[in-house]
Amino acid sequence: MDFPKEPQGEAGAVSPAGTDGARQLREVIRAENVRKTFTLSRKQRKIEKNPSGRKVALDGLSFTAYEGEIYGLLGPNGAGKTTMLRILSTLIRADEGDAFVAGRSVRREPDKVRAAIGFLTSELKLEDFFTPAYLFGFFGRLHGMDEGALARRREELFARFGIDRFAEVKVGDLSTGMKQKVSIAVSIIHDPPVIIFDEPTNGLDVLTARVVTDFLLEEKARGKSIVLSTHIFSLVEKLCDRVGVIIAGRMAAEGTLAEVSGGRPLEDAFFDLYKRTVAGE
Ligand SMILES: Nc1ncnc2c1ncn2[C@@H]1O[C@H](COP(=O)(O)OP(=O)(O)O)[C@@H](O)[C@H]1O
Ligand SMILES: [Mg+2]
Repeated sequence: MDFPKEPQGEAGAVSPAGTDGARQLREVIRAENVRKTFTLSRKQRKIEKNPSGRKVALDGLSFTAYEGEIYGLLGPNGAGKTTMLRILSTLIRADEGDAFVAGRSVRREPDKVRAAIGFLTSELKLEDFFTPAYLFGFFGRLHGMDEGALARRREELFARFGIDRFAEVKVGDLSTGMKQKVSIAVSIIHDPPVIIFDEPTNGLDVLTARVVTDFLLEEKARGKSIVLSTHIFSLVEKLCDRVGVIIAGRMAAEGTLAEVSGGRPLEDAFFDLYKRTVAGE
């Protein structure tokens, strides 16, 4: 991967001492004290019973993900997961703090960050009117791919996800599962080194969810670095090397899966943390 030569701040590029034995991990994503407050609309104020009109979504969130690993941001609804991933993907800006992808600042080098990541979120809907073939061409050219590379990538990904038969079917006529597979294929069309998926299995049937989890494990085996968000404990246990537990916009615990769960089911460890965090407020 294309890492810049300059030092990456005090955290450096190497993993915490000793936690991975001889394996030296390079950091690929780092969020540093990220803060984000939203101003609520009048309607949102009522729904959220929040007369102040301000909602702190991220309250100084920091975390580090390492190259070649799957990192899971785990937390309940409203914890701030999507907000953090949108900041990492340069879709929105943090109020304070910064985040780095492969050493590039989302504030100062958003173009470099965008080239390095494939981002998937349920908020980004594919336009119903277009076909997978059309969307693939459109987004491939947007990434500056030449026609030969685009054709090869299309063949590979359409075969991988069984999109071939539906290449000329409008997105609006596809099943939810096939839509998700098309969304994934489009999001990684440029074969980025870093994959950022927001709740990648939400709303999917078990078969499609399995395709997604298999795909993420395959990409990891190919050396990709992955950050995903989820509220599903079993997904973290199945996929993630490292986990950050996010509660109310703050990191409640972070470490390897074993460190965070302490040898217990992750769900039990989470609820202990949750009780402590909420009681401590
Ligand atoms: N655009 C927005 N305007 C107002 N509030 C928002 C906006 N986006 C997120 N929020 C609020 O910020 C908090 C965190 O949201 P989000 O990052 O979507 O959490 P998660 O993905 O963990 O469920 C929630 O209270 C949510 O309602
Ligand atoms: Mg979310």
